[in-house]
Amino acid sequence: MLQGSDFVGWRAVQQDRVEAALDAWVSADAPAGLGLAMRYAVLDGGKRLRPLLVLATREAVGGEERAAMRAACAVELIHAYSLVHDDMPCMDNDVLRRGKPTVHVKFGEAQALLAGDALQALAFGLLVPGDGSVSAELSVRLCRQLALAAGASGMAGGQAVDLASVGIALDRPALEAMHRLKTGALLQASVMMGAATGSADESVSHALSVYGASLGLAFQVVDDILDVTTDSATLGKTAGKDAACDKPTFVSLMGLDGAQAYADQCLDSAHEALASSGLPQVDTLHALADWVGHRVS
Ligand code: IPE
Ligand code: IPE
Ligand code: MG
Ligand code: MG
Ligand code: MG
Repeated sequence: MLQGSDFVGWRAVQQDRVEAALDAWVSADAPAGLGLAMRYAVLDGGKRLRPLLVLATREAVGGEERAAMRAACAVELIHAYSLVHDDMPCMDNDVLRRGKPTVHVKFGEAQALLAGDALQALAFGLLVPGDGSVSAELSVRLCRQLALAAGASGMAGGQAVDLASVGIALDRPALEAMHRLKTGALLQASVMMGAATGSADESVSHALSVYGASLGLAFQVVDDILDVTTDSATLGKTAGKDAACDKPTFVSLMGLDGAQAYADQCLDSAHEALASSGLPQVDTLHALADWVGHRVS
């Protein structure tokens, strides 16, 4: 097994690599201050869980490194854009993100909207470099995976359900479906994009897909829990927002203990799926699932 300190070391090294790549790819040059807003939204913050999932899965399947770093950053750009829009007054109306004022507070609503738009386009641009660093076949596959996870049948669709559910006590299947879309889809896609950089056969792909979906659901359940149990300074975002906005969450549905038990159950499923994959080197992916369960922000 990967020992705790080994994982912390691996994580720090990969987070630095991702930061350097994002720093190089998100240019300040976009007109009229747009580049500054984009860089503010992306750099110097966040756990980089999605890139870490791409990179760890690439390691597990022995995939192609340069494509994996592009995929890792592309998913993070979609995630960063989703956060910019999620925080806007027309959505969750948040003023704090990653320990800083939100993008619309700092740059204005119109610039925040455009920064999100531009980050989304940049994400797909990274997957089609045209310099031979990603084969045409792999580019197509990665774009398709990311588009499905980010769009109406994934994150954006889930966000629409979230907004339509204010003040509504969703039952467990409905809440689970919303969480799988708004958050789970992109986390699952991170795993599957990592897998796509290598050659995973059908049964390995299936196991990884279950791992990603289970981890993704657990991640949003833990997000619901942390919103209640953790202070804003530790979270880097406003605590207590879900109850204040009357959002249905796993905590409002089943209480803190019930939500924690449910998250643990999802993480057990993630570990089981991974163990059933037959892949020899999955310690980092196991450690990432543990991190999702034990994180404090
Ligand atoms: C927060 O995601 C938004 C959700 C999808 C719940 P993260 O907790 O991964 O946020 P960062 O990237 O670390 O800031
Ligand atoms: C957001 O969920 C999911 C996204 C797609 C951005 P939340 O609204 O719960 O995320 P936080 O708590 O603001 O980070
Ligand atoms: Mg939200
Ligand atoms: Mg929010
Ligand atoms: Mg939340």
